[in-house]
Amino acid sequence: MISVLFNNVQSTQDIPNYLLNKVNYKNILLIQSFNQTKGVGRYNRKWHSPKGNLYFTMIFNYKKKYITSMNTFICYLLHSYFKRKFNIKFDYKWPNDLYFKDQKVLGILTQNIIIGSLCTFKIGIGINVNNKIINTNFRSTSLSLILGKKINLLDLSGSLQKYLNSNIFIEFNNLSISNYLNKNLIKNSTSYSHHFNNSITEQVKVLSLNKDFSLKIRQDNLIKNISYGEIR
Ligand code: BTN
Repeated sequence: MISVLFNNVQSTQDIPNYLLNKVNYKNILLIQSFNQTKGVGRYNRKWHSPKGNLYFTMIFNYKKKYITSMNTFICYLLHSYFKRKFNIKFDYKWPNDLYFKDQKVLGILTQNIIIGSLCTFKIGIGINVNNKIINTNFRSTSLSLILGKKINLLDLSGSLQKYLNSNIFIEFNNLSISNYLNKNLIKNSTSYSHHFNNSITEQVKVLSLNKDFSLKIRQDNLIKNISYGEIR
């Protein structure tokens, strides 16, 4: 793993040109910044990024077959990391957010590119550590509010990077990951936006996470599997 820490960038998703040639097969280039002036969330939302939280992007080349499952796998890795390290049991909000008592703690943004038989995975992770991330779309909280103490950011990022680096390239079994996440799946959300047309929101009931990481929902007495959009 190559890890680069900046004081301030627009967004860790914008990889400086001089670092692009460091992107390799099964070797993570990780860009972290103490704050971001143009942090970006999913669906082009702003990701408010003041000092005190964790903002990082991992870039690596890996097998194309993981393109649709990597973000869910990373959600699983983050969930199990925080369970082990702090004994916090997050709730999993499909497709790739972790919540604590109905408040968002972390979000993942994936911007992958396929080149031949390989894929360049670009995975941005924002974790509320010492501040909340103010996003009017979601209620949020932070690790320090949950644990009742200030967290040392560099200790946390060092240990989390080590954990991700040693687990990300494990050949995972979709069934065991979906079984694990199903136990923590948030099912009380009722609206589904598929984001083809932002104004369309449908009333649904969340049923379960499928083995292929799509979500089983019920809508108007029809059972459907969805693979994009978001549930609120
Ligand atoms: C979401 O919408 O939930 C995803 C948020 C992802 C935010 C992270 S912070 C690090 C990386 N840099 C960005 O600009 N965004 C991602």
